[in-house]
Amino acid sequence: MEALSEFLIGLNLGNVVNDNDWVWPVCEIFHFFGMALLIGTVGLLDARILGLGKGIPISSLERLVPWGVAGFVINAVTGFIFIAGNPIGGPMDYLGNLALQIKMILVVIAGLNLLAYYFTGIAKAAVAAGPDDSIMPSAKVVAGISITMWFGVIIFGRLIMYNDTLLLALGL
Ligand code: HEM
Repeated sequence: MEALSEFLIGLNLGNVVNDNDWVWPVCEIFHFFGMALLIGTVGLLDARILGLGKGIPISSLERLVPWGVAGFVINAVTGFIFIAGNPIGGPMDYLGNLALQIKMILVVIAGLNLLAYYFTGIAKAAVAAGPDDSIMPSAKVVAGISITMWFGVIIFGRLIMYNDTLLLALGL
């Protein structure tokens, strides 16, 4: 972690954030835009696969997924700026934060789950289903994991600021 922190400090983003007061609030705003795009598209698709909104074809919601990916990219970039450009405690303040570590694990699981959805044929079968059809169990499992992971990302994203409370609650 120390080596990663040193590398991130070397990128000099801390000075950019320090010298430009607008960078941090703008990144916070975009971090919420990204979250809304992701949950508003991928989250919607997950909800439909789990049985909400019968009558809406999965194929229509699938067309929104690229916007969800765009939302994730916005959050990865702004999240990176938060960590590498942290003007107060530097990158280590975040890298050593348990809530952020758990959040990143959930992001990786959500990413692997998305890959499983597209590369195991589950997506193809789900898209082929009619608007009123119920969806096969494997797609529901993937959708359930997806929506749980992204809500977990939001929860632990918010808990970053309450890491001491989290540690206390976990008896750490
Ligand atoms: C690789 C991707 C991501 C990274 C590196 C990242 C990193 C961060 C960091 C460092 C913070 C703390 C910012 C602060 O101190 O105010 C944060 C806050 C947060 N993140 Fe992320 N994030 C990522 C993706 C996401 C995604 C995909 C979501 C939602 C689906 C999300 C939701 C949140 C929320 C709700 C907060 C709390 C914001 C606040 O309290 O003001 N993040 N994130």
